[in-house]
Amino acid sequence: MLKVVAPMAGITDAEFLNKVIPYGFNVATLGGYSLDLPTIEASRKIIARGRREFDIPIDEIVTHIENEVNSIKKVHSNVKVSVNVRSTDPRPIIDVGNIKNLDIVEINCHCRQKEILDIGCGQEMLLRQNLGEFISQVADNVKSEVSVKIRANIEGTDTLKLAGYIEDCGADYLHVDAMKKGVFEADWELLREICNNVNIKVIGNNSVNSAENLLKMINTGVDGFSIARSLISGKLDFDIY
Ligand SMILES: Cc1cc2nc3c(=O)[nH]c(=O)nc-3n(C[C@H](O)[C@H](O)[C@H](O)COP(=O)(O)O)c2cc1C
Repeated sequence: MLKVVAPMAGITDAEFLNKVIPYGFNVATLGGYSLDLPTIEASRKIIARGRREFDIPIDEIVTHIENEVNSIKKVHSNVKVSVNVRSTDPRPIIDVGNIKNLDIVEINCHCRQKEILDIGCGQEMLLRQNLGEFISQVADNVKSEVSVKIRANIEGTDTLKLAGYIEDCGADYLHVDAMKKGVFEADWELLREICNNVNIKVIGNNSVNSAENLLKMINTGVDGFSIARSLISGKLDFDIY
């Protein structure tokens, strides 16, 4: 079972991940990082309105991520390191996916801050005509594995169809924030349906905040689960073994 620390922009750096991995995680996600000028500019606007984001200059970002990956590997050599990234263009994502020692590059099709949506990134990627080409270009040109993180139940999308489509594009993992509007738990039924219909490894995300919900998540048939908010304090108050 993949036990994943989910990305939280401005929070999940190597120092944070090294502290929480011992709760039993075997995949740790850095980021989300903005990689190109439009996404870096969007991150700066988000910071200006008081939200946490990583703000790394464009000419330092690849080296920065490489150093963060190595800081984790030095302490937890058996843990897979993933990095969640945003970019309007696949090329900087390819550069990151070829970082030595990085296990997984994760394309962020998930963020919903206005500044990111306005430039066609984050969950807006799911509505792009060229989404498949974008993912394939990354998958075909990196040595790391590729994950695509999506938000479920977005208006104008069919999450189940998207799951199959992303699988066909050559991604190795589908990381699904199974959020459902107006419901305070993950969309367990949708996750079950996805798992029954695709062969790509599925990482289920959303509301794993207790032993009870963890069991509900595992029972959907996912290959792994990820946790964000329950770790935000740097402590996890339920067992994930
Ligand atoms: C402060 C914060 C920052 C986040 N930043 C990112 C991000 O940069 N990229 C991303 O894909 N998801 C991001 N997320 C979403 C989480 O990874 C996760 O999908 C979401 O919180 C639902 O999972 P949870 O119920 O375990 O918190 C963020 C969540 C929080 C709370």
